[in-house]
Amino acid sequence: MNILCRKLSLDVPIFQGGMGNISHAQLTGAISAAGALGTIGAGTMKPQELEKIILEVKKMTDKPFCLNIPIAVQPYLNEIFELVFKHHIPVVSLSAGNPKPFIPTFQASGVKVICVVASVKQAIKAESAGADVLVAEGYEAAGINSNDETTTLTLIPQIVKAVKIPVVAAGGIADGSGFLAMLALGAEGVQMGTRFIATKEAMVHDEYKQSILRADDTATVIVGRSIGRVRRILKNDYAKKLLELEKSGTTADVFNHYTDETRHIVGAIKGKLEEGHVNSGQIAGLIDDLPSVSVLINRMMKEARSINEVLHKKLS
Ligand SMILES: Cc1cc2nc3c(=O)[nH]c(=O)nc-3n(C[C@H](O)[C@H](O)[C@H](O)COP(=O)(O)O)c2cc1C
Repeated sequence: MNILCRKLSLDVPIFQGGMGNISHAQLTGAISAAGALGTIGAGTMKPQELEKIILEVKKMTDKPFCLNIPIAVQPYLNEIFELVFKHHIPVVSLSAGNPKPFIPTFQASGVKVICVVASVKQAIKAESAGADVLVAEGYEAAGINSNDETTTLTLIPQIVKAVKIPVVAAGGIADGSGFLAMLALGAEGVQMGTRFIATKEAMVHDEYKQSILRADDTATVIVGRSIGRVRRILKNDYAKKLLELEKSGTTADVFNHYTDETRHIVGAIKGKLEEGHVNSGQIAGLIDDLPSVSVLINRMMKEARSINEVLHKKLS
């Protein structure tokens, strides 16, 4: 049995990546119900809003789900931690900050800790701090990325070589071939964000989903390099505006104002793509349908198994 499935009581080694502030129960619940790991993204949300989502997910499924907590940006850390214990959430994923001070508290209560990393150095630190699982994210991924801009293809084998705990690959995976490729690089599973946005259950605006379906291989762009906050979003007029702002030598404060969570909600939930940014990974170009979560997950596993057989024949 896959080590990740055993450790986290999953049927398939696929994680939903945290999606701060646009998280909702339907997608997370459907992913966990399908045997993968659904994740609620805490983003900068208030504990009361988050608790409602947690209760809804618990109504949808008895299977394990995860809470992603971006440490450096979540303003109500203590209250959010209390929610994890109160509702017996079995897994947390810690991103955007140093997880070390928090890992022992979670583990003392039996909560498994996933740490999101983007370099070998971060991976070794997270392992020695006691992380149960690592998610290694390359800069193909949607949303805020590491300033080092390491790619998934190069990051995974280097991290796998450096640590003993299971590594999950994130950034650039949307089908069975990507899944299998990551296993070949030594990952135990994959985490996806962009692919899950383009599903029936994702409660984002249809315009966001349609723009992912229309996307080609060059449809995303990195913004925020000039202020040291690298983020991958869809190329559109709003992205152009952000890049022009950077060219004009804007300050971090002004740039952060134009890319804060309220702007993301305007783009992703309200569908006003000219007034707010929308996160998307480079793999959007491969996505051309809006399946249900269970169809997607079953299809990915089937594709991976049949490609594996073809590879076996090719190599023998
Ligand atoms: C809409 C959206 C919001 C995201 N927000 C977060 C977040 O709050 N915390 C986080 O750790 N990652 C966040 N991510 C990154 C995902 O968790 C995931 O690691 C990434 O999307 C994987 O790459 P992919 O988009 O190529 O599948 C977000 C991704 C998307 C698409």
